[in-house]
Amino acid sequence: MDTATLAAIKPLIEARKSLAGGLLPLLHDIQDALGCVPPEAVPLIAAGLNLSRAEVHGVVSYYHHFRQTPPGRHVLRLCRAEACQALGADGLIAHAQARLGCGWHETTADGAVSLEPVFCLGQCAVGPNLLVDDDELHARVTAAGFDGLLKSLREPA
Ligand code: FES
Repeated sequence: MDTATLAAIKPLIEARKSLAGGLLPLLHDIQDALGCVPPEAVPLIAAGLNLSRAEVHGVVSYYHHFRQTPPGRHVLRLCRAEACQALGADGLIAHAQARLGCGWHETTADGAVSLEPVFCLGQCAVGPNLLVDDDELHARVTAAGFDGLLKSLREPA
């Protein structure tokens, strides 16, 4: 682990180590700070919270929310809930995964996009829906619309 990562993690552990049930809040803190919970952090977390490495690793790997590698430059969240399914989400998801060459919780080979499922974005009447980087909602997304969006995400800023 590089010194900058270590320096970022140590105070976060310090802040949570005496909190009962502090593991989940600490994992959120670390992911917020670093974009992921690196496997090298597990021994430090375990020592800081007086847990076994297996316990910490088990929690990190159980919750898909926690990444063990940094996310892509953009995170696409495709809605998998019922209303979007009724409006064609399954076909869009299959198209997206084929275009991206990756599945859920994975990142494209070029590091441009990570793909995550989401269960309802509150826009059920205008599905299928997806969210880009937690703040850009796209409604009635078609395969062609997805391709256009992907192209724009892959273009240099
Ligand atoms: S079901 Fe997709 S936005 Fe609600």
